[in-house]
Amino acid sequence: MTKLSGPQHSTGKKIALAVTGGIAAYKAIEVLRGFQRAGCEVRVAMTRHACEQRNIEKLRHDGVRIIQPDEGEMACRAIGPGRLSEPELIVNLALEILKQDKTTLHRSANEDSALDDLRDEQILITAGATREPIDPVRFISNRSSGRMGFALAEAALSRGAQVTVIAGVTTVTPRAPLNLVRVNSAAEMHEAVARAAHSATIFIGAAAVSDYRPEAMSATKIKKSRANLELKLERTEDILAEVSRGRRNGQLIIGFAAETDNAIENAREKLRTKDLDAIVVNDVSQAGIGFDSENNAAVILVRDNPKPIELPLMSKLNAAHRILDEVVKLRRSRSAKTALQRN
Ligand code: C5P
Repeated sequence: MTKLSGPQHSTGKKIALAVTGGIAAYKAIEVLRGFQRAGCEVRVAMTRHACEQRNIEKLRHDGVRIIQPDEGEMACRAIGPGRLSEPELIVNLALEILKQDKTTLHRSANEDSALDDLRDEQILITAGATREPIDPVRFISNRSSGRMGFALAEAALSRGAQVTVIAGVTTVTPRAPLNLVRVNSAAEMHEAVARAAHSATIFIGAAAVSDYRPEAMSATKIKKSRANLELKLERTEDILAEVSRGRRNGQLIIGFAAETDNAIENAREKLRTKDLDAIVVNDVSQAGIGFDSENNAAVILVRDNPKPIELPLMSKLNAAHRILDEVVKLRRSRSAKTALQRN
């Protein structure tokens, strides 16, 4: 291990930067500089076998937080998961982890159960966009890619949960093998959720469900003979609100809110009216986050907690882990309350 340079204004934080033999190594220097600019002391180690899938699991088991590779085009021209995450993202996330309170870090580094803290949970997740048909070839939809829902599923699986995803139309495919139910319209998603919700201990509504659909679908392709065309729309079922209304004992219900203005106020109102345990707020007016994006910056609002939890820009998989950290905390506080009520 070689010490490359000391910090200018030391924060006392010590970073071990392990560089593997892949082509992505050329970006490691930017990561190194990012940490140095943040006042960290960085030592670099290069190992021949550090990137083999068993070593990663071992590190994870030891409580090391892994920043997953991004998806996209790599230097070797292949497309898919494996691309080194943006250096800025790695630095931001690592600094965020260092900021976390020592007890949390200590717990995850020492408890064997850190990897399967969701092992008793059956999680039902909705993902992607719905399509509401206008005629046989046209529909109303939105730009949701399904990434956030799939990332939540992947993260939950790696923490021991049983996961089912009900996905509308997505532009990406899940990276982990999933119990996946495919649907098209809000009505189909509503039906699939209604069938599965009773056995879920946690429901996460990450889908961008269309709020309106055409009142009637034209059986034939609508001709452009008229100068103007009026479509009469009706509201779709609010799937999340309905799951919440039929909430089973102990079921945790988490929603998402994509907002363009007054994000926190609007989301807090949804948390209250839909009677949720937590809501993840995305300000979709900002470029590069939320809808159809690889990364996310969000705020989590938790029931009975007036303080918003800010997630800085990070990969959707890491955001998913941070959201699940809050779900685990909610579950623990609920269990503690139930135990107190019994005594
Ligand atoms: O009210 P709004 O559409 O902003 O709420 C967003 C949340 O509600 C998301 O969690 C989304 O998955 C869910 N939702 C739903 N069914 C709808 C509309 C939204 O489950 N018809």
